[in-house]
Amino acid sequence: MLILGIESSCDETAAAVVQDGNRVLSNVIASQVKVHGKYGGVVPEIASRKHTEAIIPVILQSLEDAGVGLGDIEGIAVTRGPGLIGSLLVGLSTAKAIAFARGLPMVGVNHLEGHIAAALLLEAPPASPFVALVVSGGHTNIYLFRDFQDCTCLGQTRDDAAGEAFDKAAKLLEIGYPGGVVIDRMAKQGNPGVIAFPRAMRDSLDFSFSGVKTSLLNMVKKQGRLFTEAELPDVVAGFQEAIVDVLVQKTLKAVENAAITRVVVCGGVAANSRLRERFYQDGKEKGVEVFIPPPVLCTDNAAMIAVVGEHLLTRGKRDGLDLNAVSRWPLELRS
Ligand code: KG4
Ligand code: ZN
Repeated sequence: MLILGIESSCDETAAAVVQDGNRVLSNVIASQVKVHGKYGGVVPEIASRKHTEAIIPVILQSLEDAGVGLGDIEGIAVTRGPGLIGSLLVGLSTAKAIAFARGLPMVGVNHLEGHIAAALLLEAPPASPFVALVVSGGHTNIYLFRDFQDCTCLGQTRDDAAGEAFDKAAKLLEIGYPGGVVIDRMAKQGNPGVIAFPRAMRDSLDFSFSGVKTSLLNMVKKQGRLFTEAELPDVVAGFQEAIVDVLVQKTLKAVENAAITRVVVCGGVAANSRLRERFYQDGKEKGVEVFIPPPVLCTDNAAMIAVVGEHLLTRGKRDGLDLNAVSRWPLELRS
């Protein structure tokens, strides 16, 4: 099928055309990073307004890039949740309008399932079942993925998500936004061994990142000043290493427990170069095949939503024009 995917759950307005669930014909992403940057985080009201401005041009661009017209599209997949309600509604209303006007089948997609599905766009995609770490700004969850709409959560964060910890740390250090990207870049110049940050909940598959963030805050408070430019690289390298360490160790523990040899790492934080490096390294040592989408398919995009749409629509799943956006939607729950 030729699917138009639409994603607007947070601060990226995205549309993509994907053929048969594995060929990306276009993948357009309009980022609002510059708009929210000055506030150090996403401002929901502004995000909705910006989505409203961007959604139609982004969709038109995705059709143009794919070299197709709306008349060629056979189905529409749209992010229904989880995410910011005002943001989600922009994509969802647009999807409904197109589906209604063109008489096309439409399906609402879980954003987290979308992140996992990005791995199916790899040249050599993983066979099911596999363990998946979804690590983003809003989530840090380990799943056993058997099939679409057939997942079990094996572990999750009890407080901050990993991406949130990066973003809050960067805000605290006053080094820029989005934090994950800035820290990834700056950490390359630093030595992760200089400052030891705590690793929480070692014996569980659940995560906690508030402690590592607090220890950074305490360091700043104790010295009564921000870190200098010379100090920062070692600080962020140590901070990043603590987060990467627990993400890799717990996920590979879950893989071992599940007696599975395949793991998918996805979501915005999976774009992190140190996380990718560590997963490939440690996976190899443990005989685990590691599947990580390219960075552009780790952060929010609509191609991943179209992939889920392909699988749900070909199985006959359809949503009506009464479909509502949902801010919370655990992946284990069927819609
Ligand atoms: O998946 P995503 O684009 O949106 C959500 O669903 O949340 O993830 C965004 C998160 C942000 O917290 C951002 O700081 C983080 O992903 N991120 C990174 C990197 N690129 C984005 N974190 C670490 N290293 C990166 N290179
Ligand atoms: Zn996301």
